[in-house]
Amino acid sequence: MAVWNLGSINEDIVYSVPHIPAAGETLAATQMRHYLGGKGANMSVALARAGAEVRHIGAIGQSSDWIVDRLSGAGVDTRHIARLPFATGHAIIVVDDAGENAITLFPGANAEIPVETVQGALSEAKTGDWFLAQNETVLQEESATLAKDLGLRVAYAAAPFSAGAARAMVPMTDLLVLNAVEAAQLEEASGQGIADLPVADVIVTRGAEGCDWVTAEGTRHFEALKVEPVDTTGAGDTFTGYLLAGLDRGASMEEAIELAQRAAALMVTRHGTSDVIPDIAEVQAFRP
Ligand code: RIB
Ligand code: NA
Repeated sequence: MAVWNLGSINEDIVYSVPHIPAAGETLAATQMRHYLGGKGANMSVALARAGAEVRHIGAIGQSSDWIVDRLSGAGVDTRHIARLPFATGHAIIVVDDAGENAITLFPGANAEIPVETVQGALSEAKTGDWFLAQNETVLQEESATLAKDLGLRVAYAAAPFSAGAARAMVPMTDLLVLNAVEAAQLEEASGQGIADLPVADVIVTRGAEGCDWVTAEGTRHFEALKVEPVDTTGAGDTFTGYLLAGLDRGASMEEAIELAQRAAALMVTRHGTSDVIPDIAEVQAFRP
């Protein structure tokens, strides 16, 4: 089946810094790199490299041909990416020596995705396809509502956390992916424990501590692979893309999680975002 990804697209400008700067501090970077990024684009690339059929729904500025070229080069269907008279989204990312990051992003065109673009895309969707969203675009709720009406399954990554978006999305969500910080924020915002949410499958990612699969039957923990982190940026997006690709091709949750963890572990050993997301052969061969 296909995955319809309402996804943010950013130009990532990544500075390597000795530490994350404090308020008021001026800090010289030792490197600057450019990547295709955005949580949505990263997920689309991960889905495609994991072998899924992925159709991206989103928006960029007028002169960003390179983005469409890179996404389609990765195997992503780009027909439903609108060209708008706004700046392409971009992110200023600092990555420290331990691989941790801080991100400031300007949404630009991501905040202007026309509802017609979503409607046009989903008019081609088929029952049983997946719809995927995160919080770096607009129209998550409207799009998920339409997707549900059309018989799609809904996957939602609650990143970056937004209480309003999460409240609207959770009741429609079949697969929820979030990190431990976002899970705590969601529990706080909803007054409900993760296990009590009306979502069939919740995956809470915990970085080096692995992840939890939470269902009505209970919680199962999966240990992470041990790697030396270079840059954790995009690892969560890679995990989500691989996880959904696995479920979409009918793998068990255990199998999908195992491959997603392997892909994310390989990703943290690499500098960069979409451009360096590994393909499935590299992931299967990766033995840290
Ligand atoms: O999750 C990583 C992504 O967050 C980066 O690619 C950046 O664009 C921001 O959206
Ligand atoms: Na990385």
